[in-house]
Amino acid sequence: MTATVTAQDIDALAEALAATHGITSLIIFGASGDLTRRKLMPALCNLYSKGRIRRELRIVGVARTDLSTAEYREFIHQEMEEAGGFQPNAQEWADFAYRISYLMADVTSLESLRELEEHLERLEDFDPEVSNRLYYLAIAPTLYLRAIACLGEAGMADDSNGWRRLVVEKPFGTDLASSHALNDVAHAVFREEQVFRIDHYLGKETVQNLLVFRFANAIFEPIWNRNYIDHVQITVAESITVAERADYYDHTGVLRDMFQNHLLQLLSLVAMEPPHVFEAEALRNEKVKVLNAVRRIPAEAVAQHAIAGQYQGYRAEPGVAPESQTATYAALRLFVDNWRWQGVPFYLRSGKALQDKTTEIIIQFRNPPHMLFPLADDEDIPANTLAIFVQPDEGFHLEFQAKTPDAGLQMRQVELEFHYQSAFAGQAIPDAYERLLMDALTGDAALFTRADEIERAWSIIDPIIAGFNGPAAPPLYFYPPGSWGPEESDKFLAADGRAWLKGRRGQP
Ligand code: BG6
Repeated sequence: MTATVTAQDIDALAEALAATHGITSLIIFGASGDLTRRKLMPALCNLYSKGRIRRELRIVGVARTDLSTAEYREFIHQEMEEAGGFQPNAQEWADFAYRISYLMADVTSLESLRELEEHLERLEDFDPEVSNRLYYLAIAPTLYLRAIACLGEAGMADDSNGWRRLVVEKPFGTDLASSHALNDVAHAVFREEQVFRIDHYLGKETVQNLLVFRFANAIFEPIWNRNYIDHVQITVAESITVAERADYYDHTGVLRDMFQNHLLQLLSLVAMEPPHVFEAEALRNEKVKVLNAVRRIPAEAVAQHAIAGQYQGYRAEPGVAPESQTATYAALRLFVDNWRWQGVPFYLRSGKALQDKTTEIIIQFRNPPHMLFPLADDEDIPANTLAIFVQPDEGFHLEFQAKTPDAGLQMRQVELEFHYQSAFAGQAIPDAYERLLMDALTGDAALFTRADEIERAWSIIDPIIAGFNGPAAPPLYFYPPGSWGPEESDKFLAADGRAWLKGRRGQP
């Protein structure tokens, strides 16, 4: 597989998929849930309409709701219409729906799994020689252990007549110990190369393009280190509140929900060394090395390296404890203790109910060593920045100084911009799940998280969570919804002589 994100690349994957023999069944456990309705089915239907899913694919929805296959198809169709994303035409929908069947079953019950096995064998009868299966766990994470063990007990991981793969959604565990236990159970049933742990940020086009940007261009890599970079900022801001997920969220908080996975993945991709090939093991080895090098913050020192916030009104959300101390916002200062990044702070922040939805990575370069041009008294020597916008307006902005015309030696910060929308006009950016589902079906694990990677990430976040909940916890600052988080977060950077480069640079 290649690192580019073009349609040709996806077509190549589709060809690879078409080249696999036999029937492939995609079994979605949790088929009536939010993820299946909002993400998986629209992505599959879209892939099917683009001709990227082979006709032999069977989709089996499994859930505890009592529905017939016809009712389930209708339910998914309605949900897709309401969601307003990809809308298949009547023919596309009919062709796609034809390959969906539904079974009322409980993934944690052996008896149910036996019924599922019979259902699958009936589907596979078309080609009993080769029948591949992708089991997708879109169920409550508390059921993962039991579900995986049950698949094993039911003999459903046996890959003697076709491949078997398991896709597990985040969160993979709630801390290091539980993720380790989950890995143990997964490895007792499946081999590591059969397990595909999803972090949907890795399926986002700009996240993948970060690798192309870094490793397919010669001009940036020589300056991608402590000699030229002053610091890195990673912002994953969301304007939504926790809404109907409040109950889950109150037990989870922003560190588990966003930092352990999405933010640390972005950090790894920014900081990693170039792998020698773009292939799952090589890529993930490099990411693991970065996570190993992240300096651990002991629980008792967390207050010096983190800010905790909660949006005003959070405690009144249904499902939230009235005195909840759960952070809905956090900012962290991390260091990567290796040759390339020694002394370069990585500032990470994420929160709910913020002013805007935006994911961006900002690389701030060092100041020029000597300034020839006059600056006003209160002016700092201006730094160059590179802003990588992951969403919603995918692109890159490089800021540098230019001379203001006809104004002596006055300078102004100007921008070189690249935007997907204008540069690749007419080419829609696919949803992350399209890419990830294709990769899982073709067996390419490059954009999935390996067992050791997950555990390393927890080992970074666990002491920070312990610090947030312990006797030396940082104060919990309350911030108004629609702001950029607590003011103390700005002071946190100001104390380092830096400032958050506010969301969506260039916008007021
Ligand atoms: C999920 C978190 O993993 O990512 C959610 O559980 C969050 O709380 C979501 O809203 C953000 O994803 P995206 O793709 O909308 O940035």
